[in-house]
Amino acid sequence: MMENSSSLLGAAVLGLGRMGATHVEAAKASPFIRRVIGYEPSAETAAERGRELGIATTSNLDEILGDPALQLIYIASPNETHCDLTVQALRAGKAVLCEKPMGTSLTEAQRMLQTQRETDGFLQIGFELRYSRIYRKVKEWIDAGTIGRPLNSHCDYYCSEGHGRGSWRSNSPTSLIAEKLCHYLDLVRWWFGDEVVEVYALAAPNAVGYFRHADNHQICCRYRGGAISSLTFFMHTAQTFHGDPLQDMLAQQCDDGHRLTYLIYGAGGAIETDVFRRRARRWEFIEAADKLHSHLVETVTYPPEEDLLWIHNTHGQNIAVAQGVAQGKRPFPAADDSYESMRLVFAAELSEREHRLVQLSELP
Ligand SMILES: NC(=O)c1ccc[n+]([C@@H]2O[C@H](COP(=O)([O-])OP(=O)(O)OC[C@H]3O[C@@H](n4cnc5c(N)ncnc54)[C@H](O)[C@@H]3O)[C@@H](O)[C@H]2O)c1
Repeated sequence: MMENSSSLLGAAVLGLGRMGATHVEAAKASPFIRRVIGYEPSAETAAERGRELGIATTSNLDEILGDPALQLIYIASPNETHCDLTVQALRAGKAVLCEKPMGTSLTEAQRMLQTQRETDGFLQIGFELRYSRIYRKVKEWIDAGTIGRPLNSHCDYYCSEGHGRGSWRSNSPTSLIAEKLCHYLDLVRWWFGDEVVEVYALAAPNAVGYFRHADNHQICCRYRGGAISSLTFFMHTAQTFHGDPLQDMLAQQCDDGHRLTYLIYGAGGAIETDVFRRRARRWEFIEAADKLHSHLVETVTYPPEEDLLWIHNTHGQNIAVAQGVAQGKRPFPAADDSYESMRLVFAAELSEREHRLVQLSELP
């Protein structure tokens, strides 16, 4: 659908690394955006990335913040910069899609939310798994009542160390609970439609020696309505895939210890998602006279070329944000919803630090 050119947006992308490039691509593809400009703090990097991405760039942030023709800002810079950039952009009257995490501390997350409230601005945090088809399918099945009230969910996430020695991620003190697992904690809150009241988290000694943070976690949550969830994460699975174009990378990784699955159970059935098998399934439980019977009733699969749409739909999220801002809609998820996920993240960090069960009511 083409928009009237007077209602088209100008967009800026702050941080032109890997994720910044995805934001630029989505902005260019959006029928709601007429102009994209990029920002990098170093003039040299700005010029270089501008050439590579085919967009105008600047290393002067004020040029972006002071330009009324730029209404939408995508923030794709390192985590430590999210809070300040979001606050500046909201105060300058811009709509903001800021990559997760929503700040690197509860104080930063609060500052971001507070600024959104004071300005009544558009602030969306990049919880893009809520736009990814495999996880939307889970939401659809739960909301349709196919498993009854969700009671128990478990996520297994075993992945390779992809951050690299010396990268900002490896050097960052931000925990992987905030940097990575915020997505996977946020999903369950969304699916259950309920808030976590208590959390207990543990980490074993690191396997990756050069991280400034833990590389593994086990996190247990209890929800207000009584449901529970757990998540096991380990970031040191050796990658055995060596780029053979005739082999399916995910199929190979299934057998070398990589795993990203959820199992969600209710009294009436169960749901499983399995990213490495490109599959979501659901079962219905039928109470017969003798015992409980289980029937596999639906299996959803997708081809490798649709991987991103199903498991990491950043592109779809960005396109939706441009449309939403152009049409005056509110963000999904709302900023206060994302803040709740970050409260859970920081409560889990606190639990791990202090080796104790943490009540979410302890946090503001
Ligand atoms: N939603 C997701 O699934 C997902 C996936 C990957 C990354 N991310 C998030 O995106 C952000 C960027 O990650 P990345 O992988 O693109 O990192 P990256 O290192 O590839 O890129 C970051 C870029 O930001 C630039 N930068 C540094 N300081 C800056 C500042 N003050 N202002 C603006 N730009 C600055 C760097 O020069 C670099 O080009 C991170 O917050 C990360 O958590 C989200």
